[in-house]
Amino acid sequence: VVELGTGTAWTAISLAIAENDRDVVTYDPVLRVERERYLALADQSARNRVVFVDEQGSTGPRDGAKVNLLYIDSAHERQVVLDELEAWRPALAPGAVVVLDDFTHPEFPGVREAVRELGLNGAQHGTLFVADLSDGR
Ligand SMILES: C[S@@+](CC[C@H](N)C(=O)[O-])C[C@H]1O[C@@H](n2cnc3c(N)ncnc32)[C@H](O)[C@@H]1O
Repeated sequence: VVELGTGTAWTAISLAIAENDRDVVTYDPVLRVERERYLALADQSARNRVVFVDEQGSTGPRDGAKVNLLYIDSAHERQVVLDELEAWRPALAPGAVVVLDDFTHPEFPGVREAVRELGLNGAQHGTLFVADLSDGR
């Protein structure tokens, strides 16, 4: 799993706890002190499977690992979302799930704008947009 926008790391750690063989790499240029508190709630195995990258999500992959779930919850700006999708698309495994958070948030129209601009197929689930990139869009 790759998450863009670590924030407090609540999501990253939850994803690691949910599957005991899942590795999570999470990007955020801003370090939040709450991370340590959430990490302290997880067991050692989950903690060891979360890698923090203190960079913008659009800097892309650090290695050749394929990504099964890309979770985008970063700047919520149109151009940032476009740059992130471009950077990560080559790293997606076949059938990968791409989730954009805050798709319906009134203060973050950039997420919807990017989805529309790319003509992404997919479906809204609550406040999320789950994109299907298998057709190359
Ligand atoms: C809504 S919060 C993420 C919440 C997080 N998923 C959690 O579980 O706490 C958005 C985060 O995106 C980060 N951010 C902003 N621009 C970013 C970028 N270009 N790349 C990565 N992270 C970014 C912010 O610093 C902020 O911590």
